Parts: sequence; structure tokens; C-alpha cells
Amino acid sequence: MKGIILAGGNGTRLYPMTKVVSKQLLPIYDKPLIYYPLSVLMLAGIREILIISTDLDKPAYERLLGNGDSIGLKISYTVQERPRGLADAFILGESFIGSDSVCLILGDNVFYGQDLTKVLNKATELKEGAIIFGYPVKDARAFGVVEFNKANNVVSIEEKPENPKSNYAVPGIYFYDNSVIEIAKNVKPSIRGEIEITSVNNKYLENKKLKVILLGRGMAWLDTGTPEGLLKAAEYVEAVQSRQGFYIACLEEIAWRRGFISDEQFMAIGESLKMTDYGQYVLSLLLESDFGK
Ligand code: DAU
Repeated sequence: MKGIILAGGNGTRLYPMTKVVSKQLLPIYDKPLIYYPLSVLMLAGIREILIISTDLDKPAYERLLGNGDSIGLKISYTVQERPRGLADAFILGESFIGSDSVCLILGDNVFYGQDLTKVLNKATELKEGAIIFGYPVKDARAFGVVEFNKANNVVSIEEKPENPKSNYAVPGIYFYDNSVIEIAKNVKPSIRGEIEITSVNNKYLENKKLKVILLGRGMAWLDTGTPEGLLKAAEYVEAVQSRQGFYIACLEEIAWRRGFISDEQFMAIGESLKMTDYGQYVLSLLLESDFGK
């Protein structure tokens, strides 16, 4: 399975913060925002990843993550000229996806919590159809909203409805089989002029191939759409990290624990960053492991 991170858009809702910095590069406590969705793909075991950004921001992402080699990934980049809609990811990513299935994650979505890896691993088993997630929120009007019956079968899915049929928002992570490319190509733009991911999901629903997995309240899906949301997300990360001593979205740690990189490679990363808390954290993980003993 391939992974796509959509990190384009103009971030206009966060001006002036995003006037010269791409939204997905803003810090959430101690790391750039894009680290968080990238960590989710890595936890899912996805190692071939395409990052889609604006032309202007592409060099910054390339500087940040390179070709992914140092963390055992294969990262490539492509440009979205203008924000045509989330479904554009599959059109722009057609040759990257090839004949594979694909997971799309939005570059501004932060997930964390118990069972995340388990849930993701289940979703990557997808052979046919599509999997979306449902997450309970107080006010679902700002999101895609999924309605389902007692057997958890999807009944409807609507984009930003005024009167939501459920309080389950659809977070920005989606798993699709290869037919998503053709489906995306045939999506008609919505009233706001975008080719909506919700239209893609509705097509799968029409074909009886859309499955929803409900995320429990033990899972955090954090909002990064407002200055307040960004601050709260940073506070959340800081609180968890300082309390537990474990980092959220330390890409090098995930790469090491999953065997994408060797002890020696992990050590070299820790050494090169040892003047920072981040580097000290990496080195402390090695010390606690059997490495060098
Ligand atoms: O966050 C989850 C929600 O994301 C879903 O519940 C909705 O169904 C889905 O439509 C989407 O809603 P938003 O209105 O929040 O999406 P937004 O336009 O803010 O775009 C999400 C991110 O994707 C944002 O960081 C910018 C990036 N983006 C967006 C568009 C439309 C692109 O890179 N290219 C695009 O063409």
C-alpha cells in the first residue's frame, strides 16, 4: 500500500501565520505539523510516500524530509498548482499509486492514542473498496459527516451539512483500493468549486464498498484549523511527552522500532542531534535497549 500526504492549500484561515510558511510546517510543540500525519503512515507500515504541496513550499518539504532514506522511507514530491480539492491527490498521484491501494492522510491531521497502530494495521489489509473512520465530535458541521446503522453499515455521508445526521465526523485519513483513481477523475466539483473527498466516498457507498471504522474516545484527533486549535494541540503533545517520557511522532523512533533503520543508523541520528532534547531522547532509547550491551 502507498501513502499520500496532502500538504498543499494556502492556509488562508491562519493568516498571517501562514503568509510565508506552509501550514503543515508550523510547529506543534517541538516538531513540524507534517511529522504527525507522517508518523501515522509509518505506524501503518507504509513506506512509499508521496507528499503533495504547493510549488513554493516544495523545496522546504524536500529540505525537511529529503528522500526519506535516513528513516527507511521512500519519499517523493509533487506539486498541486491550486487547491482543487482533496480528491485531486489521486489524480496527481496516479503514476505514484500505480496498481496499488492507497492511504490518503491530510497534512494537518493529528492522531494519537491507544490502539491506533492496531486500527491502522487492520485498515492496511484492505483489498477492495474503501475504509473511512468516524470520530465523535460535539459539533460535526465543519466536517464530512457519516451516518451509520446498528450494524455499523454506512447509510449516508455528507460534506459540512447544516444539520448533521450524526455526531460522527470523518477525519482526514482514508484507505482506498486502486479504483479511487478513476473515481476521482469523474468527480464533479462541488458548490465551493472543489473535487470533494466526500464525493469519492459517496461513489464507494453507492457501489456498496464503503466501510466505516469508529474511533473510540481513547483516541485523540486534534484540530489544527485555528490558532487556538494549534495551541491546544501543542499543549496536548507537551503534556503527554513530559508525563510519559515518550515522544509523539518521533519519526526516527518509529523507524527504529519498526526495523526500518538499524541500531547504528538510529545512533548516528541521535549523535547528530545530541545538543537538542530530541537527540537526547533518541540516545536515551538506545541506552534503555540492549544496544551496545
Ligand atoms: O479534517 C477532516 C476534514 O477535511 C473532513 O472531515 C472533510 O470531509 C474534508 O473535506 C476536509 O475538510 P476541510 O474543509 O477541513 O478541508 P480543507 O479544505 O481545510 O483541507 C484540508 C487540508 O488539505 C488543508 O491542510 C489543506 C490541504 N488541501 C486542501 C485542498 C482543498 C490541499 O493540500 N489541497 C487542496 O486542494
